[in-house]
Amino acid sequence: YYRIDYELKKSILISALVSIIGFLITVRMIPVASKYVLRRNLFGYDINKKGTPDGSIKVPESLGIVVGIVFLVVTILFQYFNFTADSIWLVEYNAALASICFMILLGFVDDVLDVPWRVKLVLPSIAALPLLMAYAGHTTIIIPKPLVPYVGLEILDLGWIYKLYMGLLAVFCTNSINIHAGINGLEVGQTVIIACAILIHNIMQIGASTDLEYKQAHAFSIYLVQPLLATSLALLSYNWYPSSVFVGDTYTYFAGMTMAVVGILGHFSETLLIFFAPQVLNFLLSLPQLAGIVPCPRHRLPKFDPHSGLLTGTNDGTLVNLFLRQFGRRSEKSLCILLLVFQDGINDGFSQC
Ligand code: UD1
Ligand code: MG
Repeated sequence: YYRIDYELKKSILISALVSIIGFLITVRMIPVASKYVLRRNLFGYDINKKGTPDGSIKVPESLGIVVGIVFLVVTILFQYFNFTADSIWLVEYNAALASICFMILLGFVDDVLDVPWRVKLVLPSIAALPLLMAYAGHTTIIIPKPLVPYVGLEILDLGWIYKLYMGLLAVFCTNSINIHAGINGLEVGQTVIIACAILIHNIMQIGASTDLEYKQAHAFSIYLVQPLLATSLALLSYNWYPSSVFVGDTYTYFAGMTMAVVGILGHFSETLLIFFAPQVLNFLLSLPQLAGIVPCPRHRLPKFDPHSGLLTGTNDGTLVNLFLRQFGRRSEKSLCILLLVFQDGINDGFSQC
């Protein structure tokens, strides 16, 4: 028993080590890749800086591609050092990597081709296929005690419906991060905070349990979430206000898919949704515009006031606008910090419960 515990710790430490190497490589590669994407005209206007799109600053786009590639290299190589692996886990681990890789490809396609909104929505369900097809874990849910007499079962096997749920989770995680965006640092910032919450949750669950399979499920989440956290921090150092690079849908889709996969393989997707509470809120606020009941412009960004240099809220249904209307005009940087503090507070609050 102690031997297994020791090997689990060793694997987690090695994963931390390769993640740090991943961080250093990402920090080095982003400026290099920035030159290349600009040369191919892959840039975005920093809309919140000078008011009008054409008066704004050109910023290299889609630097999430660097994060994605470094993440894949790190997580693929890590398998060589994982001492607790059994073959079933390796199958799911590689299927997860295939889904993440597929998502990076489709995200990059979206950045380059700018596909319509409705197509964007379904891309993650295509990318999730490798994991859904290879998934051999449980497909059961436990019926809450008070409902048992009515359902007549204590455990319900959902079968393929559970896989449908996994696919929908992937669609939600990716898109909800992508639409909680538009101010410098927010896309990566929220990912960093959720990834931290997931990491702490996993470590606590491993410490609290004596069930080996349960520990391994959470350890496998850690092997994916540590490299995500490390490479994202590297990206944040460039994307933080004032952004010298943009992350692109390559990054938002990659990050969302990785967290969905981590929640599925770690068997804590309900807890994951709690960590996504601000994204759920932003999604609900966005529903009228996403459903087409209220017109939805290409960008739902706050308004920049050139005189004060502050942002004001518009009528678009986003959490960013809600915060601006609720707490008054703010600078882009302080608004981003406020939203991230909110995200962190929610994560903390729920994990205390
Ligand atoms: C989503 C949002 C959109 C928002 C956009 C901003 C929905 C349905 N879609 O679209 O409302 O405007 O994200 O990312 O809610 N940009 C900035 N400053 C930033 C980040 C982005 O000006 O800090 C601008 C840049 O011009 C950048 C562009 O947004 O090139 C990126 O937009 P993209 O990620 O392609 O937008 P969507 O994800 O389609
Ligand atoms: Mg986007």
